[in-house]
Amino acid sequence: MSMLTDKLGRPLHDLRISVTDRCNFRCRYCMPRELFGKDHVFLPKNELLSFEEIERLARIFVELGVKKIRLTGGEPLLRRDLHILVERLAALDGLEDIGLTTNASLLEHSAEKLKAAGLHRVNVSLDALDAKQFESISDSGVNPERVLKGIRKAKEVGLGVKVNMVVKKGMNDDQIIPMAKFFKEEGITLRYIEFMDVGQSNGWDFSKVVTKKEIFDQLSDQFELEPVDPAYIGEVAKRYRYKGTDTEVGFITSVSESFCSTCTRARLAADGKLYTCLFAADGKDLREVIRSGVDDDGLRSAIVPTWKNREDRYSDERTEETARNRKKIEMSYIGG
Ligand code: GTP
Ligand code: 5AD
Ligand code: SF4
Ligand code: SF4
Repeated sequence: MSMLTDKLGRPLHDLRISVTDRCNFRCRYCMPRELFGKDHVFLPKNELLSFEEIERLARIFVELGVKKIRLTGGEPLLRRDLHILVERLAALDGLEDIGLTTNASLLEHSAEKLKAAGLHRVNVSLDALDAKQFESISDSGVNPERVLKGIRKAKEVGLGVKVNMVVKKGMNDDQIIPMAKFFKEEGITLRYIEFMDVGQSNGWDFSKVVTKKEIFDQLSDQFELEPVDPAYIGEVAKRYRYKGTDTEVGFITSVSESFCSTCTRARLAADGKLYTCLFAADGKDLREVIRSGVDDDGLRSAIVPTWKNREDRYSDERTEETARNRKKIEMSYIGG
């Protein structure tokens, strides 16, 4: 089979699958409580793809060239029996990597089952170590110690672990160094993420972004860093190593150094819509197609043209105007 590429020549290599639009946190930059409060209507169960449907779609995506799958949410561990889905995905021939992006509040008790089911890695979101700050950012009533317990357990059972910290000016930029020190000691990769203008409700503007350069300069005052080559073309994070150690630190620079030219990621939302960019306005409804009773060829002919027609490169084109006015789906729905 010839390689499936989009209009800019980018192959389809990764699939991010959101398994729920719900989250037990209300991070102010992602699901502010004013908009995601008691009255917010989440997707009803029958509108979520079932595990059978996800598995079937994933199998077709793998046949089309996908090597990496990442499960996301909302908070994916809120989806009941997620390990069963992991087990089914792990059995797909040709898939090389299965990861999970989670806030880790429920990880301590599920890490072992997930590992046994075939999960390889977890990326844990943690924006501050300071308990007060963490509680205020996540608006969750959860203590960061619970997240750390989840991280430790994941390591203990043999899962790969990385930590994601979204840095927003005035929110947690004073945690840049404490986070670096802590995770360097733990031997865990920490990745700083530039705050992005995802969705319609996160109050983004350029002045709230702390760029890679600013963070790098702060780190360079305290540590000696050396660059690490990307593991593969299109890797999201720019990687460095603390000199004399095996511990890495990374930067996800969607704002200051966009990486659209090598973006090989498709996104399947919890309701079965296929998106070709994190900042897309709309997606191709695969749930409708799958529930119409088509065979695998029918599903392929819904997916292939969607990728072939893809020309998204939002982060290359971002301006204050697009950030403010362009219609985009919410982060908690598309899973980052
Ligand atoms: P690894 O496979 O471990 O490298 O995972 P990842 O970094 O691709 O996934 P993760 O879910 O940990 O995402 C980290 C951050 O990168 C989040 O803020 C994502 O929204 C962001 N991110 C991931 N892929 C893209 C992308 O294609 N475009 C943009 N703009 N941001 C992305
Ligand atoms: N900008 C950058 N990263 C974000 N995330 C959520 N919202 C944003 C944003 N506006 C991160 C989460 C998680 C990952 C999936 O995306 O913290 O680590
Ligand atoms: Fe926070 Fe992640 Fe939940 Fe969004 S999905 S509210 S970033 S924990
Ligand atoms: Fe890919 Fe869109 Fe992110 Fe660019 S902005 S890297 S096209 S998901």
